[in-house]
Amino acid sequence: GYILFGPADSLTLFSGLLVLMLAPEFFQPLRLLAQHYHDRAAALGAAAELLDRLEDLPDKAVQKHENVRNADPGAGIVLDQVSAGFKPGQPVFSELFLTLESGSVTALTGPSGGGKSTLLHLLAGFLKPDQGEVRIFGLAPGEVRFGWLGQQPFLVHGTWADNLRLTTPDASDVAIETALRQLGLGGLIDERPEGINSPVSESGAGLSGGQGRRLSLARILVANYDLILMDEPTAGLDPDSEVYVIEALHKLAVQGKTLVFSTHQPALLTLADHILSVSGRGQVLDTSRGGGHYE
Ligand SMILES: Nc1ncnc2c1ncn2[C@@H]1O[C@H](COP(=O)(O)OP(=O)(O)OP(=O)(O)O)[C@@H](O)[C@H]1O
Ligand SMILES: [Mg+2]
Repeated sequence: GYILFGPADSLTLFSGLLVLMLAPEFFQPLRLLAQHYHDRAAALGAAAELLDRLEDLPDKAVQKHENVRNADPGAGIVLDQVSAGFKPGQPVFSELFLTLESGSVTALTGPSGGGKSTLLHLLAGFLKPDQGEVRIFGLAPGEVRFGWLGQQPFLVHGTWADNLRLTTPDASDVAIETALRQLGLGGLIDERPEGINSPVSESGAGLSGGQGRRLSLARILVANYDLILMDEPTAGLDPDSEVYVIEALHKLAVQGKTLVFSTHQPALLTLADHILSVSGRGQVLDTSRGGGHYE
């Protein structure tokens, strides 16, 4: 029971080339199998983690529901004597007291390594303060829904529409297309025969870095959050794309959303009610209010 292959008596250049061309096709199913096997392993790993977390969901869901009622959008954002950092004895912020009004637009500027991202992570609840308290609309960070645009775009394998419906499952096709067009991605949808149902890969293959960022931002536009935190929303964008983002953020500001973003770009500062210079050494200076000083 075995098949004897070759060697052939002779091989012409044409047959040789044909074999070379067909070889990838021949092995394609095997490569696909390997890829699916890898996906399955990753999914099983993630499922175990998810199941663990789902176990204590009922209590938390009830708690969250109660908190939604308690959220006081007028209370603004308060950092009360917050000390936080990554290494013991080297706080990025120490005893920082800071208040941001609801519906205000705050830009964080300052040198690289000054602590802008750290401050945004504190507001998002991704980083816990070592001392003091952060309150968002009267609640702990993470208890209030908020939009997050990190330094890396977050994309999933699926269509453009799937990516926008991640956080707003019931968003209509029209809302999705409007958000994408608002960010200057209309041309890209028009180019693709399936429009908003064209595929996007998790790695963003086929999209530039700036397009991936704008896709992530479109997700925030569709979702209607009261608080939106963004880490350098226009980083790596050309001037035209930057204008789309600035206009979209302006629209959110006009709607009364509370926006906090870090930026190195002067154009974005024009949007801000307050410009906080996060200068390292734990200092936060309000440069837009005649040098008010938080420490
Ligand atoms: N995950 C981390 N582990 C250890 N130290 C960190 C971590 N993230 C930030 N830091 C340190 O905290 C300080 C503030 O960093 P942060 O990323 O907040 O700066 P930034 O103002 O956002 O800078 P950039 O403009 O380059 O984004 C820096 O000294 C940095 O080295
Ligand atoms: Mg940063």
